[in-house]
Amino acid sequence: MPLVEVEHERPIATVLLNRPRQLNALSDELMDELVRTLEELDRDESIRCVVLGGSERAFAAGADIGELATSTAIELYYQRRVERWDAIRGLWTPLVAAVSGFCLGGGCELAMACDLIVASETAQFGQPETSLGIIPGAGGTQRLTRAVGKAIAMDVILSGRRLSAREALAAGLVARVVAKEAWLDEAKRVAREIASKGPVATRLAKEMVDRAYEGPLSLGLEFERRALYLAFASEDAKEGLTAFVEKRRPEFRGR
Ligand code: COA
Repeated sequence: MPLVEVEHERPIATVLLNRPRQLNALSDELMDELVRTLEELDRDESIRCVVLGGSERAFAAGADIGELATSTAIELYYQRRVERWDAIRGLWTPLVAAVSGFCLGGGCELAMACDLIVASETAQFGQPETSLGIIPGAGGTQRLTRAVGKAIAMDVILSGRRLSAREALAAGLVARVVAKEAWLDEAKRVAREIASKGPVATRLAKEMVDRAYEGPLSLGLEFERRALYLAFASEDAKEGLTAFVEKRRPEFRGR
């Protein structure tokens, strides 16, 4: 049984974590398969947005604790376990996390590494690592703090408090909260919306929002201006602008 299931519904693809008995705990093997799958989809120009989800019960309950318990620090360091996550951050194709149920530890970090999160009303977000004597190590202390601010991040990371979907929405961690049964369909709907836009512009816009998130404002503004000129030079921009004037739907080619 594959640890990651892929469904192509061009122009979108859906990737579902598939370790249900371990609540999609992110084992080494699963992460390898996930990164390989996402990189493959990223190279496929006919895929313009990817949905990443788990099951209704769990997006992912964190790193595989059994594996961590039997590894040494130097083994983890030499296997470059966490470095692998950089590949997810480097994807061009927008990634929508579809989160239902438990979204804890590495699961929460994985969702935060996506471009936006669509959450079921059942979703629970948390970083419980300190109760295991470790700390979040794949971006949790940094991305959560940037998303929700110091007060809530400290509470979640130090006390182990879980955020409900509504709390996560109010705090700015998730983009939309939907009914229990709609978690995957709504994420796919959002992905199709994203996929219908100009591909060149979408990639540049995603990169620029990441700039805002990661760096100082003055540098972000400078990059944004250059990215605007680059988007403007694309055939997509000519098509999008002309289609609006001619009152028809644009046909984007990603060029
Ligand atoms: N790593 C490995 N296995 C995990 C896991 C993880 N992060 N999270 C859950 N599992 C396994 C459990 O060991 C259990 O396996 P078993 O049936 O063979 O005993 C199975 O998944 C179901 O979990 P269970 O604890 O029985 O379900 P629950 O509904 O009572 O509780 C959680 C769900 C998510 C609250 C609980 O499993 C939990 O706290 N998991 C760890 C979360 C965590 O600390 N993540 C950070 C890791 S760094």
